[in-house]
Amino acid sequence: MALYSEKVMDHFRNPRNVGVIEDANGIGEVGNAKCGDIMKMYLKIEDDIIQDVKFETFGCGSAIASSSMATELIKGKPVAEAMKLTNKAVAEALDGLPDYKMHCSVLAEEAIQSALEDYESRKKAD
Ligand code: FES
Repeated sequence: MALYSEKVMDHFRNPRNVGVIEDANGIGEVGNAKCGDIMKMYLKIEDDIIQDVKFETFGCGSAIASSSMATELIKGKPVAEAMKLTNKAVAEALDGLPDYKMHCSVLAEEAIQSALEDYESRKKAD
């Protein structure tokens, strides 16, 4: 069996939603101290719906595939739904990741959570 699923390879080779949103109203950046990989998520939210999402990932192939899939899973969704996105759901949508690569999908969950928290705190500050 191949180590990585077709979907992982596809999202690694052709990541969706790569880049920066200049007028993002939720930004989250997380890193994994062990591997040194870093992921940054940008959200553009209007009326509590994620209108746009982009990411920059300095990391391994699984981290890139996980961020790409995670952005696809939350785009167009309400904030409350995106809050519930787990790394397991990301890994499942990718048709699985090897056990020792599951932490890469955790980075995607954390980056989205962090961007959503940023959005919520900006909202309160308004
Ligand atoms: Fe660190 Fe994949 S090896 S995120």
